[in-house]
Order: sequence, then C-alpha cells, then structure tokens
Amino acid sequence: LEIKNYLLVAGKGGIGKTTLSLLLALRWLEKGKRVGILDANLSSPDIPLYLGIPPLGVETLKEDIEPLEVQGLKVLSLGLFLERRWTPVSWRGPIRHRVLQHFVNKVQWGDLDLLLIDMPPGIGEEHLTLGELLKGKAQVLFVSDSSRGAVFEVKRLNAFFRQFGIKPIGVVLNKESWHRPRGLKLKLLGAIPFEPELLLASKEEGGLLYFEGGKTFRTSLKRLANRCFRMLNRESGYPLTLKARILLKGG
Ligand SMILES: Nc1ncnc2c1ncn2[C@@H]1O[C@H](COP(=O)(O)OP(=O)(O)OP(=O)(O)O)[C@@H](O)[C@H]1O
Ligand SMILES: [Mg+2]
Repeated sequence: LEIKNYLLVAGKGGIGKTTLSLLLALRWLEKGKRVGILDANLSSPDIPLYLGIPPLGVETLKEDIEPLEVQGLKVLSLGLFLERRWTPVSWRGPIRHRVLQHFVNKVQWGDLDLLLIDMPPGIGEEHLTLGELLKGKAQVLFVSDSSRGAVFEVKRLNAFFRQFGIKPIGVVLNKESWHRPRGLKLKLLGAIPFEPELLLASKEEGGLLYFEGGKTFRTSLKRLANRCFRMLNRESGYPLTLKARILLKGG
C-alpha cells in the first residue's frame, strides 16, 4: 500500500481551499487518478457537507477507520463522526494532534496517486502536526487572491512549511484573473474566476458534486489540475541528493 504524493492545500480563511481541493480531486478522478482527501479542519470539518454525506455519529469512529468513498473519491473528515453538522469541536492541541496522527497513519487509505489535505485557516496545531508527520514528503499548494492579507498569509505559511521541508508547488489565485500579486514570488499555477454558480451550489448540501460551472471556469480548472499534477511529479517528495545521483549513475 502506497501513497505516492501528499499535497497540502493552504491559505487564508475563506479563500476557497476546500472548494478548490474538492474540484481538483474530482477532476483528477475523471482522469483516472486514485485520489483521497483528508479534511484537516477539525473545527469546521465541512467536507462531508460539501459532498452531501450525512454525519454518521461517534459510534462509527473505531480503531481501524476506512475512508468513505464518494464517486471514487476516498474521503475522511471528523465531520463524518459527529452527531450533527453543527456539533462543536473545541479540543486542545494534544487531542487534535492524536486525531490527525490517526487519520494519516492508521487509516486504510490503500494505494493512492495523491492524498489531498485540506488545511484549516491560520497556523495552528493541525499545521504543526502535519508538518511533523509529513516532514520532507508532502508538498503544498497555496490558495490566494491579490489582497495584501492573503499574500502575507501565503508567505507566512510558506516560511512555516519550509521548516519541515514541505515545498510549494505554487499558488492558485481564486476568484481572480491571471496577474501576479505584488510581492508574491512563488510560481503561479492558475487563476480561477469568480463563478456565481458556485455560490448557488454552496446553498445545497452536496451541491459541489453536481456543479459544472461556465466554460471559462471549467477551462481554468482543467489547466490548473494539469499544471498541479505535473509540478507534483516533477518535484518528487524525496529528491535524490547530488551524491545519491552520482552513485546511481556509477560515477
Ligand atoms: N471561484 C469561486 N467563485 C465563487 N465562489 C467561490 C469560489 N471559490 C470559493 N467560493 C465560495 O467561497 C466560500 C468559501 O470557500 P471555501 O469554504 O472553499 O473556503 P476555505 O478557504 O476552505 O475556508 P476555510 O478557511 O473556512 O476552510 C464558499 O461559499 C465557496 O462556494
Ligand atoms: Mg475550508
């Protein structure tokens, strides 16, 4: 059993991390990739809501958890195990740490080309835990817009993840057209326009599964999905050192 790539999706609160994670995941599934998504947002674990999966209750939370499968997408979220959509979760750091550790290491994800990890906003216990757990083997996609606050949040997160050897594959601008925000030096992978249909879809549980979007939106999403996948596999999570490369070549 193997997970080939881990991709964190991070950025400022409300910028579109969950929406883009899910739309990218669905796009990659369409192209025949084996994809899983882990909802690392333990305070507002809304992925089940976006996918229309009802909360199943705490009794379903066992030692050996298997991710749920929705249209071929493997999904795991704390939201699956709550009594209600609005059950409040206000755990302290150590519990968040243990739950995420379990979700990453003890869950039967199976063989995956990619495990997407939808991060909560800010830099908290979830970031520390995943940084440590996936040290040197995950990469990160940042979601931003050109507001100064969103750009600084990306810079902050990038500096943070670098400490764990988690490298950026680049930035996607959400709800914007393609241009480089001031002071953002990371690679731009795409610009996803504002899509009014997406707001309509978000009014229904599971609305995202049936959402198509206009032509410009679909084209930009496809391009983004392709670019991300290329970047992921170009920058391998375990880069060979120069020494190892020379040894392999027999030099
Ligand atoms: N390109 C877009 N066009 C229109 N609406 C969008 C777009 N992207 C996201 N949204 C809407 O913005 C809202 C916030 O999106 P989302 O929940 O994905 O953000 P988030 O970054 O995951 O938030 P949080 O930090 O709380 O986890 C949702 O209602 C979503 O439908
Ligand atoms: Mg979110």
